[in-house]
Amino acid sequence: MLEIILKDRTTGRNIIWANAEHGKQEITADDVKLIRPRWQKLREHQRQRTKDRAEIFTPPEVCRIQNELIDADERDWQAYVDARFLEITCGEAPYLVSRYNAVTGKAIALPERVGLLDRKLRVVGMQTKTLLDWTTWAIRAVKSVYGYEFQGDNLFLARRNVFETFKDYYAEKFYRKPPEDILHEVAEVISWNLFQMDGLTGSPPFAESPNLFGGVYCRIRDWSTGKTFEFIELERGG
Ligand SMILES: C[S@@+](CC[C@H](N)C(=O)[O-])C[C@H]1O[C@@H](n2cnc3c(N)ncnc32)[C@H](O)[C@@H]1O
Repeated sequence: MLEIILKDRTTGRNIIWANAEHGKQEITADDVKLIRPRWQKLREHQRQRTKDRAEIFTPPEVCRIQNELIDADERDWQAYVDARFLEITCGEAPYLVSRYNAVTGKAIALPERVGLLDRKLRVVGMQTKTLLDWTTWAIRAVKSVYGYEFQGDNLFLARRNVFETFKDYYAEKFYRKPPEDILHEVAEVISWNLFQMDGLTGSPPFAESPNLFGGVYCRIRDWSTGKTFEFIELERGG
């Protein structure tokens, strides 16, 4: 699963660190044990990251208020689950999922979670009865949430937070871990939907945007059509 979760769907390689220490180096499965969430990083390191990349995380109280303001206004629950959201510069993705307070690290119990995906998975839990139905709609919920981030360790944590959130709600409903094939599918979706991009260029960090000499824009997937396209097309009104 880790291999999939480290994949970059634009470059076909692994996501890269994209920080001061490791630059364009890819993150390997072995590196993952070195990754700490921001709340566990040394104060000096936190300060440096704030200076380098404006890294400041949002506490769940604020995510809750803002998510209530923007939450999808759909009458039927299926349309609600499918409504798409993107957390720009997502850090560890606290607007999508809130397994812990991103500022203090305090764990948050399932009923108190405030992320947009948390809200959707609660609706799926209430509206479905069979395992098959739950799984179908829970995966659709994961397909509906997107995020991008520059720094590879944050992106990895965002991906892992979404993955673990899916497992948390599955365990709450069915009292066990999801089977491998389901986890595989979820990991696959996550590797597309949470992507590594420099929001200022639309390209992977430190990569050239397309020009005479090559370069690339980040690709994302629309799960309703199965098509992939350049993220930048969205900004151009596509
Ligand atoms: C203020 S934090 C917000 C993180 C998260 N959305 C939250 O609310 O807790 C900004 C995030 O943007 C990322 N970032 C900085 N410059 C970026 C860029 N050019 N493109 C994409 N992400 C960037 C940083 O790494 C950091 O994680």
